[in-house]
Amino acid sequence: MFDVLIIGGGAAGLMLAHSLPRDWKIAVLTKDTPVNTNTMLAQGGIAASLHSTDSPEAHAEDTLQATAGHSAPERVAILTDEGESIIRQLMADGLPYDKDVSGSPILGMEGAHNTRRILHAGGDQTGRGLMSYLMKKTENRIQRFPHHQALELVVADTGCLGVIASDKDGFRKSIYARHTVLATGGIGALYSHTSNPNVAEGDGLSLAYRAGAILEDLEFVQFHPTILTIDGKSEGLISEAVRGEGALLVNQHGHNIMEGIHPLKELASRDIVARAIECHWQEQGPVFLDARHITDFGDKFPSILKNCQYHGIDPLTDLLPVRPGAHFHMGGVKTDDRGRTNIARLYAIGEIACTGVHGANRLASNSLLEAIVFAKRLAETLSKSVQDEFENSHFLEQSWNFTAFKQIGAYPLHESLRTDMTHSVGILRENQRLKDFIDEYKLPPVEDLLNLSNEDISLFHRLTSSTLIATAAYLREESRGAHFRIDFPALSVDWQGKVIELSKSGISI
Ligand code: SIN
Repeated sequence: MFDVLIIGGGAAGLMLAHSLPRDWKIAVLTKDTPVNTNTMLAQGGIAASLHSTDSPEAHAEDTLQATAGHSAPERVAILTDEGESIIRQLMADGLPYDKDVSGSPILGMEGAHNTRRILHAGGDQTGRGLMSYLMKKTENRIQRFPHHQALELVVADTGCLGVIASDKDGFRKSIYARHTVLATGGIGALYSHTSNPNVAEGDGLSLAYRAGAILEDLEFVQFHPTILTIDGKSEGLISEAVRGEGALLVNQHGHNIMEGIHPLKELASRDIVARAIECHWQEQGPVFLDARHITDFGDKFPSILKNCQYHGIDPLTDLLPVRPGAHFHMGGVKTDDRGRTNIARLYAIGEIACTGVHGANRLASNSLLEAIVFAKRLAETLSKSVQDEFENSHFLEQSWNFTAFKQIGAYPLHESLRTDMTHSVGILRENQRLKDFIDEYKLPPVEDLLNLSNEDISLFHRLTSSTLIATAAYLREESRGAHFRIDFPALSVDWQGKVIELSKSGISI
């Protein structure tokens, strides 16, 4: 039995492992290799008020402004206050970051920030830097279970006891722990256009829902404005930091498409920019990022340059074709300010959690910060917990070796799921399309997952998460932040402060 079982190995999971007592037995389960995480792909950076003219209050103000009146100010204050000091500690402890000749961090600019406050590493490889720092810190402290798909959480009267997981050969085993933590990341791969890796399929939402946890704010899905898009396919993120350095959004005639949309133009909040680009694509044709005047593009954005060159595009001479794609989920498993869910011994941190800091639209580069801050807070809470009788008991580890799974393809609708999510539950939503989606897909029946093939388990999780997100989007009859309803295009005072919660016991608004 482990002290802590962490499902997911990105920034939140590893920061938690790093912050727990050194003698604790910690398991980290990942669906693929340890490095196939969203964190690894994070370009822009980590927002924190590190400059002498900045402050946690100013950072909180920008965060609240971006979140469209739907975030919890006291949680945002935790994020920006504690965030600043934790990031300083990590920098002192070896977290890599780009610095000037005097050793001060070079801070980047991103949309809806009123000042430069984005810490970055390797130009546009901040996530990679953070992962390598955390992997080094935790390598001798954790037992890894790579290529393990979580089937379901084991929940008893006393709370969550662990998980049943399947390795890549379909061998199933129970892994028990005093505390189980969901750190499974996001949902971008539920959509056909995304900046996320293929593993970001919303497994955590499905696991939590099936276990009886409360999910909230699921309708708020952030679409990143600028994904390099070639022949209709997403080919990698082009960081908001590129617009922070002055890149413009133009159509095929060279006209700025943000003219007349918002005074901050390219640096308006992400929901506004993404919607403007998508509408332009649908009504008038392609949109490009013009970064040709950023002469030091290669120094500032080496990995973006490499990706563009791989696709035969030179940012110094060519326009970069861009379209929005699913990027971040503001909603998730409802937690308190310490990562606790409504189920005893089950916690959620990072993107899978809904802590209330991102509201209806996350401020750029607040996601790694949230992962770090709330993982640290959970570690503090768990470290203080006193072992009880339950925790001292021993569990019989079980394993199952199935040879005859149900036929692959238990859910024949899977081919169209991603395209229909993009079409019906994407940037521009409306009643009939949402209703048709929910009618067509429905929540999969509760069944014995042990009998399903690994492919079908993955599809089961995708179907569950997609249907839950569509349901919340259908219910919220207004437009707020990233949730835009063509049939209800304005903020509604009736919806102000209302939160949609979904759980096995029903819907609460
Ligand atoms: C980006 O680099 O544009 C993404 C950063 C973020 O999502 O916060």
